[in-house]
Amino acid sequence: MNKFVNLATQDGVAVITINNPPVNALSPGVPEGLVEALDAAERDPSARAIVIIGGGRTFIAGADIKELELAASGRGSGPPEFHGILARIEDSTKPVVMAIHGTALGGGNEVAMAGHYRVAVPDAQIGQPEVNLGIIPGAEGTQRLPRLVGVAAAIDLCVSGKPIRAPEALKLGLIDRVIEGDLLAGAVAFARAIADKGGALPKTRELSDKLGSEFVNASIFAAGRDQARKTRRNMIAPLMAVDAIEAAATLPFDEGCKKEREIFEECIASDQARALIHAFFAERAVAKIPDIPKETAVYNIRQAAIIGAGTMGGGIAMACANAGIAVLLKEVEQTALDRGLAIIRKNYENSVKKGRFSQEVMDQRIALIHPQLTYDGFAQADLIIEAAFESMELKKRIFGEIDRIAQSDCVLASNTSTLDIDEIASVTSRPHMVIGLHFFSPANVMRLVEIVRGKATSREVVATALALAKKLGKVGVVVGNCRGFVGNRMMLPYMREAQFLVEEGATPEQVDRALTNFGMAMGIFAVDDMGGIDLAWRVRQEYKHLEKPGVRMPIVLEKLFHLGRYGQKTGAGWYRYDENRKPTADPEVHALIEKTAHEGGIERRHISDDEIIERSIYIMINEGAKILEEGYALRAADIDVIYLTGYGFPAYRGGPMWYADTVGLKQVRDRIREFHEKHGEFWEPAPLLAKLADQGETFADYDAAREQSLAVA
Ligand code: 3HC
Repeated sequence: MNKFVNLATQDGVAVITINNPPVNALSPGVPEGLVEALDAAERDPSARAIVIIGGGRTFIAGADIKELELAASGRGSGPPEFHGILARIEDSTKPVVMAIHGTALGGGNEVAMAGHYRVAVPDAQIGQPEVNLGIIPGAEGTQRLPRLVGVAAAIDLCVSGKPIRAPEALKLGLIDRVIEGDLLAGAVAFARAIADKGGALPKTRELSDKLGSEFVNASIFAAGRDQARKTRRNMIAPLMAVDAIEAAATLPFDEGCKKEREIFEECIASDQARALIHAFFAERAVAKIPDIPKETAVYNIRQAAIIGAGTMGGGIAMACANAGIAVLLKEVEQTALDRGLAIIRKNYENSVKKGRFSQEVMDQRIALIHPQLTYDGFAQADLIIEAAFESMELKKRIFGEIDRIAQSDCVLASNTSTLDIDEIASVTSRPHMVIGLHFFSPANVMRLVEIVRGKATSREVVATALALAKKLGKVGVVVGNCRGFVGNRMMLPYMREAQFLVEEGATPEQVDRALTNFGMAMGIFAVDDMGGIDLAWRVRQEYKHLEKPGVRMPIVLEKLFHLGRYGQKTGAGWYRYDENRKPTADPEVHALIEKTAHEGGIERRHISDDEIIERSIYIMINEGAKILEEGYALRAADIDVIYLTGYGFPAYRGGPMWYADTVGLKQVRDRIREFHEKHGEFWEPAPLLAKLADQGETFADYDAAREQSLAVA
């Protein structure tokens, strides 16, 4: 038909195949090709029914997000419009059967729902993930979905954005049959049977029996809005999706579609949609490293070995086992090993209790983790990850030991969160095999892995780390070897500034509340208490020699440390904790802060939430700009991905650098200059930030220009 759509006939059924790799998105040309193919199939007297199927690995994974990006940024010819193709499918005089494998997401499911019937392979995934992009389903999905699955299930699918597998879709009435075995043959047989039966063709838009009554729906919509507010804090689209589904239940189909279109257009013009679409592409761009082409050879990781069964080591072991990689887990003492293993077991048991996976899966995963006190078997490992205490001396000793044991092709990784990977590598005979794999706690859950590339790390080892991150279901971001790498290097000034803010007059609770209202997953003091004040203190000691004499540093944290207030683990830190680790404000901490301020001659004053946000976030942005200019991050978007996947930065703000662009770099720079004057040298403006602001440019412009020059190089 055209280059995206192919038409053939099989057993008296017209088979329309969409070929728009990699994911058969509804890019311009695809809907047009589908219309042409449907016209031809209807004209063909030898075809009694029509099957629409995706070529390659999937059905349609949605509208083309690049088109949405253009629409969101006001470029292009407006948001894509699919009414024509949907009506054309639904009004076909021959039965149309959608044959689904891989994913039918967003516009993909919306196209599927316009068919008269849907069949799918068991592991097909079907859903409406638009909220993850800050929009609502915009191809009549909010109108057809509740007609097929009912209002409550439609709300759940659209608000959660989570896809479901074919068997569940069958139960809900979203599909008509699960096909085991060959999908196309099954779909063709199904279509022939429908044609044989004859009779009226079911049009989803004409269904109404699942739309419920006003009386029953009132509580469902209220619960849906509650779910949206709780699970998608501060986000517009999930609430708007509920509004659109409400229109389906209260208005005729055409008017409901009009309402959906209005809401869709409003969402797509929002800052949240722009930020989330940025995040979508940024997350996929991080794996593209200019000097590491896709074809770079990688080491095959079948057997991993981990040194240290503490929180990090245990979490990494679980991440490996979850991906089917066998792990040797080494500790120094039996009690520590037992403790580590008990925690792993408890975590898995909780997952089984919550129904995430079966006992059998848990047993398989536990069986992949081999606890031990020796280096037995390390000589056969393909990857060794050191996850010991954060001390250079200790790490060097361990790397010296594993260098003597490991086979020559074994990747040697450190999970250090701040230490110099080149110095660690220097004690080995093979610095090219050494890399930093900085996992985030809990490592079996958090998606980020900072991949720290040392000066000698080989390309193959970096490519292996990227492939491993993908295999573990994580996002690997390659960063340079500077103090704290990217994430923690930005975190240090953020934490320091928060401490200055409390010394100057705020309370830890006020700072944390302002930050969570801004959208951060947790407040900075709550993070400090969770990570451990002893750990923060220890990291600071490692770098104390770098602190400039005469430059005032905040000191409350040091005092908390000396009082033994290490955070959650000791029941007290910046907050006081009950036995369930529930925090409350602690007057003792307030008194300590006030006393410290008094002793330091700091006049306490009222601090507004706006000032808290500006000082906390802008200091991170300023550090991010320095990191970018010094080349420790490849793109501003990489920094965003790090903060979105590892530090709880709100996705709908796109990450710190994207957020700076949204505020306007001139404004950010001007405030940083003011803070520099008022608060001194920690606020020295980053030259890159100042330059971009002067030129009226953004970090996104900087990335785009760099992308071009890297591509040319
Ligand atoms: N549009 C454009 N490009 C897309 C795309 C889409 N809908 N979905 C994926 N891609 C691209 C990715 O950017 C990537 O490109 P790259 O290779 O150049 O980096 C490539 O396809 C492969 O994607 P992944 O690396 O993510 O591949 P995976 O196999 O890991 O995952 C997937 C596949 C589950 C389909 C995942 O890509 C995904 O979740 N895609 C987005 C699905 C989605 O959100 N659909 C709804 C779109 S909005 C919509 O439909 C609006 C409608 O209501 C009007």
